Amino acid sequence: MCSTQKENSVEKISRICLCLLLVGFVTSAQLVSSELPDQTIMFAINAEIGVPGWGVNNSDYCYWRGIQCSSNQTVEILDLSSRWLRGNVTLISELKALKWLDLSNNYFSGPIPTDFGKLSELQFLDLSANKFGGSIPEEFGKLRNLRALNLSYNFLVGGIPDELAELAKLQDFQISGNKLNGSIPKWVGNLTSLRVFSAYENNLGGEIPDNLGSLSKLELLNLHSNLLDGFIPESLFANGKLEFLVLTQNRLTGIIPELIGNCDNLSSIRVGNNNLIGSIPRTVGNLTSLTYFEANNNNLSGEIVMEFARCSNLTLLNLASNGFSGIIPPELGQLNNLQELIVSGNSLFGDIPESILRNRNLNKLDLSNNRFNGTIPIDVCNTSRLQFLLLSQNSMRGEIPHEIGNCVKLLDLQLASNYLSGTVPPEIGRLKNLQIALNLSFNHLHGPLPPDLGKLDKLVSLDVSNNRLSGPIPSALKGMLSLIEVNFANNLFSGPIPAFVPFQKSLNSSFSGNKGLCGQPLSSCDNSNGDDQGNYPHKVSYRIVLAVIGSGLAVFISVSVVVLLFMMREKQESSAKDVGIVDDSANSKPLIIAGNVFVENFRQAIDFDAVVKATFKDSNKLSSGTFSTVYKATMPSGLILLVRCLKSVDKTIIHHQTKMIRELERLGRICHDHLMGPVGFVIYEDVALVLHEYMCNGTLFQLLHENTKKPEYEPDWPARLSIAIGIAEGLAFLHSVAVIHLDISSGNILLDANLSPRVAEIEISKLLDPSRGTASISAVAGSFGYIPPEYAYTMQVTAPGNVYSYGVILLEILTTYLPVEEAFGEGTDLVKWVQSAPMRGETPEQILDARLSTVSFAWRKEMLSALVVALQCTDSTPAKRPKMKKVIEMLQEIKENKK
Ligand SMILES: *[C@@H]1O[C@H](CO)[C@@H](O)[C@H](O)[C@H]1NC(C)=O
Ligand SMILES: *[C@@H]1O[C@H](CO)[C@@H](O)[C@H](O)[C@H]1NC(C)=O
Ligand SMILES: *[C@@H]1O[C@H](CO)[C@@H](O)[C@H](O)[C@H]1NC(C)=O
Ligand SMILES: *[C@@H]1O[C@H](CO)[C@@H](O)[C@H](O)[C@H]1NC(C)=O
Ligand SMILES: *[C@@H]1O[C@H](CO)[C@@H](O)[C@H](O)[C@H]1NC(C)=O
Ligand SMILES: *[C@@H]1O[C@H](CO)[C@@H](O)[C@H](O)[C@H]1NC(C)=O
Ligand SMILES: *[C@@H]1O[C@H](CO)[C@@H](O)[C@H](O)[C@H]1NC(C)=O
Ligand SMILES: *[C@@H]1O[C@H](CO)[C@@H](O)[C@H](O)[C@H]1NC(C)=O
Repeated sequence: MCSTQKENSVEKISRICLCLLLVGFVTSAQLVSSELPDQTIMFAINAEIGVPGWGVNNSDYCYWRGIQCSSNQTVEILDLSSRWLRGNVTLISELKALKWLDLSNNYFSGPIPTDFGKLSELQFLDLSANKFGGSIPEEFGKLRNLRALNLSYNFLVGGIPDELAELAKLQDFQISGNKLNGSIPKWVGNLTSLRVFSAYENNLGGEIPDNLGSLSKLELLNLHSNLLDGFIPESLFANGKLEFLVLTQNRLTGIIPELIGNCDNLSSIRVGNNNLIGSIPRTVGNLTSLTYFEANNNNLSGEIVMEFARCSNLTLLNLASNGFSGIIPPELGQLNNLQELIVSGNSLFGDIPESILRNRNLNKLDLSNNRFNGTIPIDVCNTSRLQFLLLSQNSMRGEIPHEIGNCVKLLDLQLASNYLSGTVPPEIGRLKNLQIALNLSFNHLHGPLPPDLGKLDKLVSLDVSNNRLSGPIPSALKGMLSLIEVNFANNLFSGPIPAFVPFQKSLNSSFSGNKGLCGQPLSSCDNSNGDDQGNYPHKVSYRIVLAVIGSGLAVFISVSVVVLLFMMREKQESSAKDVGIVDDSANSKPLIIAGNVFVENFRQAIDFDAVVKATFKDSNKLSSGTFSTVYKATMPSGLILLVRCLKSVDKTIIHHQTKMIRELERLGRICHDHLMGPVGFVIYEDVALVLHEYMCNGTLFQLLHENTKKPEYEPDWPARLSIAIGIAEGLAFLHSVAVIHLDISSGNILLDANLSPRVAEIEISKLLDPSRGTASISAVAGSFGYIPPEYAYTMQVTAPGNVYSYGVILLEILTTYLPVEEAFGEGTDLVKWVQSAPMRGETPEQILDARLSTVSFAWRKEMLSALVVALQCTDSTPAKRPKMKKVIEMLQEIKENKK
């Protein structure tokens, strides 16, 4: 990559300068005080690595950041973690009294210095998340005082050296995320102090040593994603201390040992994607702490044991793709904390257990691809708050009950390939949150399609194919504003296909097999011209968009889960009172429950009634995001406000008003140039409106992507860089006050009259802060294309996740592309597209917005440097992403070096 080359030369020059500077420093400092024991070596280390800030104000290294000395001035603690450093770290081995060495999360490369083996006092050694290569030095066996060794996330190869068997005091041993091979040595079972052993994501083969069971203190064993075979050693459970066991994605065979029931503290068992056989031992009922049980994709068989019902903390049970048979034991209804029950791809039969549906916390029920042969219960959603109801590929009979309309939280309803009969109940139109898919295909449904389906304005995919549905396709379906994929094929539909872009852009196979249908994309109704084939170049690309959006949606569970957690936090169950619909009250005077303006000079100018009324007019709508819709409101006083109408907070507001008001008032006091805090709020009926200053230049999204008409406003590179720095400053401040943003996107960056950016929607993060939830499955959110890949499995909103989303914005700024574009190809978003540019043989010029990068050599150089920053921010490993503060430093440096 050209960018790397550039960076290297720039860096080399700066390093030479730094070295010259420091050499001067060393000599002068040595003249002043030469008796400090580690002085020479510390200055030499600084000269080599160039740690920002070191030596600047003080030649006494004991005061440098990350250093702690003993009383006689020898360095005992050296913490250089996350400082963006590179260089030769061998000299550190001269700090003979060192007890604690943390070099994690930097760019150190080359082999790990074998001289570290000389640090005989060392107790803690963390070299994780660097680029160290080669093998683990056998000299580490000499570190007899070592308690924690972390070498995770490097490029280490070879085996685990036998010399480490001497580390008798080792408690934490982490070597995950390397390319280590060989097997797990038997002597690991002799490290009697071991509490944590994680070696996941390597190429380790062979068997899990059966003597690990003698480790009486072992709490965490994580070996997932290796090539391990053989059995899960029974002895692992002999001591009963184990809390986390993760063996997912290996080649393990044999059974899940019965002795597992011995581990009172076991809270997580993840053994999916192996070749395990046999049944689930009934002793699993002894695991009262069990939270996760994941054993999908094995060859397990027998029944789903009712003993699971005794694991009262069980939150997730995933037994998909095995050979389980029998029924789902009704006793599982006792699992009050169960959020996800996934048993797809087995041979289970019987009814959907109604006792489970009574569980208020159940969020996902996946019974697909089994032999369930009951009916869909009438009280399917009387109590549960299901978001995923996946019943396809079973033998379900009977009608779809009208009561399905009670499942108002549903995001995904899959009923395909069953024997469902009767008509499609119009109540499905009440499932306003349905967005991933409504799939009723391959059943025996008849009668007309209810026009009420048109109310599903978030739905992306509708499939009613292969039934006996008749009548016209209702033109009310044009209300399905989010629709991308449709399938009406092989029914008895007749009449003209309504003129609706998603319909006309579909393949004609989506409408075929209906003798009576006509109009685009089929032949036209007057039969004048049937030349339709191959006229739609967008067909395929639409599917691509769907694939991309679909993967985002999977993570989209968010909103309602967040609300759920918010409510649980207060331990105050709502009476589930139904909430009225707002829009109808446009003409009556809204009932304002509460309202306040925090900012003194706005107080006189804001009229709450006018604020509320403004949100009734669609013409005032400025944008709509994941969590809120934004309106422009002009006050009678002439003041213009931005009004953010929060979605999905409904009942929460009624019950937790005072809490919300407190949070808003607190945020109102957050004062930062690049953050947009609330200036006030209004609560009426069940709706919360948050008030902000109006920003006359719209959003960054509009500036970058909707500005084609006004070339004079096209932001040049310096303007873009300033915007990027401003956003980074806003986010860094937010992180410094421990607020994680939930939905960073260019649409959430507002621009004031001087194009200075303000990060908006920060209040959402506080009102719906998922990290405070008590459930272990935390909530995740964001906008398509900005969601960090790890959210999909960690389900946790984090600061590094924010950095990723920021990196996407930076790429947008550099390329002027959208985070998701059809042009990138199937399943590829902006990040992947940029990352794969070298593989496609493309130059950076083909990535950067050429209208800017070709203006001057200086701009091009700066853009290339910023591209490097964006790539670091969007690294797929969260630990490798820089902190927001570091991002500011790097971008400032690009800006200041311009001359
Ligand atoms: C050095 O001193 C200046 C002025 O006292 C201070 O602003 C700065 O933060 C100090 N730098 C470091 C790295 O301590
Ligand atoms: C400094 O003190 C440590 C113990 O705190 C001792 O091990 C070391 O030998 C001393 N070093 C010197 C140079 O005095
Ligand atoms: C690092 O520095 C040491 C001397 O301090 C030297 O022996 C070694 O070769 C250097 N390593 C590399 C990779 O340059
Ligand atoms: C590496 O392991 C140590 C000891 O277990 C732990 O304290 C540290 O947080 C780990 N480092 C990283 C970057 O996760
Ligand atoms: C483990 O320790 C036992 C007892 O000290 C010893 O006999 C055995 O050889 C050791 N095993 C290995 C693989 O080092
Ligand atoms: C499981 O608990 C039962 C009592 O509930 C006890 O008899 C049995 O020994 C336990 N099983 C194991 C493997 O600990
Ligand atoms: C269940 O989870 C709660 C909350 O995390 C915890 O306080 C409790 O101890 C757990 N129960 C058992 C039996 O582990
Ligand atoms: C469902 O299938 C099971 C097993 O094939 C059978 O015993 C049972 O009678 C069936 N139930 C119904 C309602 O058809």
